[in-house]
Amino acid sequence: QPEPAAPSQCVGPEYRPDTQKPTATVSTEVSHENVHILPQTPQLIALLTMIRDKNTGRADFIFYSNRIIRLLVEEGLNHLPVIEHTISTPVGRSYSGVKFEGKICGVSIMRAGEAMEQGLRDCCRSVRIGKILIQRDEETSKPKLFYDKLPEDIADRWVLLLDPMLATGGSALMAVDVLKSRGVPEERILFLNLIASPEGAVNFANKFPKVRVVTAFVDIGLNEKNYIVPGLGDFGDRFYTM
Ligand code: URA
Repeated sequence: QPEPAAPSQCVGPEYRPDTQKPTATVSTEVSHENVHILPQTPQLIALLTMIRDKNTGRADFIFYSNRIIRLLVEEGLNHLPVIEHTISTPVGRSYSGVKFEGKICGVSIMRAGEAMEQGLRDCCRSVRIGKILIQRDEETSKPKLFYDKLPEDIADRWVLLLDPMLATGGSALMAVDVLKSRGVPEERILFLNLIASPEGAVNFANKFPKVRVVTAFVDIGLNEKNYIVPGLGDFGDRFYTM
């Protein structure tokens, strides 16, 4: 079955004309307001090129994934509300700025989502992190909740849900159901993700139109084994074991 054509774009610094920039594959667009795709900058495309490469070893895979995760967390934090905050500087002037309002927590979908926890901790010191384990039920082939451990006051927090690969969306959808059942409103959930399939992103956006998805890239599709293509293979294996 032929793959749909991947969108391509000239990628390089602003000061160079397009004729002097290399062409690279960039993210597919998704027409859902709540799906936010990171700007397709030369940095991001170079980082994604590293982690997609099957010849990239584990140490580099971790290093470059962590850089993308950092970009996702920083962008995710832009979606949190801020309030006015004026301070005094050491030279005796005041500066009218803002500060974050509200409490947050992370929730990782095990095991691959745990790889994103450090990136969140690097930006939000001593952040609480909960965990959800969803696996395919051997009998029904449907995703099943096996374990969860979430902060008790999660209903009062903004939740950054972490999972690097959004393939069919089965686990992420179930994770949002779990969060909602604990009282977290959809509009206070941000789903941070490295690579999504178009069908995963659209399923997710249709079922939970108020959950914001922040992703680095929407790929072309899924293969017969439900791996994202062109993708990067199994994220958990490459991060933890290969
Ligand atoms: N999970 C992965 O690790 N990779 C995929 O391509 C899809 C789901």
